[in-house]
Amino acid sequence: MAGLFIALEGPDGSGKSTITRLLGEYFKEKDMDYLVTREPGGTMIGEEIRRLILDTENTEMGPETEALLYAASRGQHVHEKIRPALKEGKIVLCDRFILSSLAYQGVGRGLGIKEVKAINDFAIQDVYPDLILFFHIDPELTLKRKTHRMGGDRLEKEGSDFHRKVYDGYMELIKMYPKNIRIIDASKSISDVLAQSIEEIEKVLISKEG
Ligand code: TYD
Repeated sequence: MAGLFIALEGPDGSGKSTITRLLGEYFKEKDMDYLVTREPGGTMIGEEIRRLILDTENTEMGPETEALLYAASRGQHVHEKIRPALKEGKIVLCDRFILSSLAYQGVGRGLGIKEVKAINDFAIQDVYPDLILFFHIDPELTLKRKTHRMGGDRLEKEGSDFHRKVYDGYMELIKMYPKNIRIIDASKSISDVLAQSIEEIEKVLISKEG
């Protein structure tokens, strides 16, 4: 497919949403055709699913339901926005994608990486990121910051054990898929993190052109 699909991944509060926005501004300045989007959400249907998943009132939600809802939101996202944008040759920047499900539901919830990958493979029909930027930062540190600031959604409210598992899951996934994952040191300043992210993206853009 034409275009370039970039996913930004990392623990809660690693600053990737800010960087996603700044990367969008960078592409705009360079007059490149791009789409900035996020998960869960990204479409009207996806945003409704997002509300359902993250609602702190939904304490009864089982892990399988949670995993299927994330996959459903992702399937709609690929169908309605990501695949069409890539076909038009755009750069797609997505704040979280399949790796989040493998880490949070597969490892954090203990459903298994293989099992969660299977439902996601079905949902996304071969639309995988060309590049995954992983924002590395100590998860306990960032989570403390975030829940203190705004109370936290249903996933953020999970204890530090859960978030430690998610972090370990990400580390395992980086070993499993070293080819297209690049680690960004998210403990640095915003401008350093942005510069490092741009450098990784430019490398892929150059190799695609050449
Ligand atoms: P979001 O609000 O985007 O959090 P952040 O700003 O930290 O990225 O994501 C909501 C939560 O959903 C977040 O705790 C991670 C979780 N999540 C999953 O558990 N599985 C998934 O597949 C995705 C996309 C997100």
